[in-house]
Amino acid sequence: MKLFLDSVDLEVINSLSKTGLIDGITTNPSLIASSGMNFLETIKKICDLVDGPVSAEVTATDFKSMLLEGQKLSKISSNVVIKVPLTKDGLKACKAFSKQGIRVNVTLCFSTAQALLAAKAGATFISPFIGRLDDLGADGINLIAEIVEIYNNFNFQTEILAASIRSVQDVVDSAKLGADIATIPPKIFEGMFLHPLTNKGLESFLADWSKTGQSIL
Ligand code: G3P
Repeated sequence: MKLFLDSVDLEVINSLSKTGLIDGITTNPSLIASSGMNFLETIKKICDLVDGPVSAEVTATDFKSMLLEGQKLSKISSNVVIKVPLTKDGLKACKAFSKQGIRVNVTLCFSTAQALLAAKAGATFISPFIGRLDDLGADGINLIAEIVEIYNNFNFQTEILAASIRSVQDVVDSAKLGADIATIPPKIFEGMFLHPLTNKGLESFLADWSKTGQSIL
């Protein structure tokens, strides 16, 4: 399973990329707005920091303007993946980009039917939003299960990118179901390293080791 960071924080992206465990980055207009940073410059800087795909979202809502915005964004770097919303115009743009060999992440997917359409439109990635469904009392993880099933039925090549992740358990559940990727907020990625028994075990190993008086180096 690939792990992406859902972030525009350059310091965090730089430091967590150094783990060698980050396969790509997703961004969205809300993350850019809350950072106060310039969108185009930030995407360029992220692309300079990471080797994998970097999703940059169009903000136009009509087909023609989405094409113009997507073309501009795709010129920033070969890492850039154009993110389009799951609307009729968004999927038309997805189809047009995929015909030009431009990779597309179709975002704001909340139903299996939407995911089916995105695959038919040639999406590279489909982003089902787990957390926002759970927030409404719906079953976000079940959406992942259904998409995995229908994509397997027809051997669609679109990769399932579990998004709107709220917990480490969301990552684990997505992995169990066979989602190709999870895009994870940095705090949750940090949480994946942690287990109290790891700390406790390390403490006791180190305490016992110090009694031996030995040193490896
Ligand atoms: O980037 C898309 C998605 O991961 C957003 O998550 O937490 O705003 O629902 P959230």
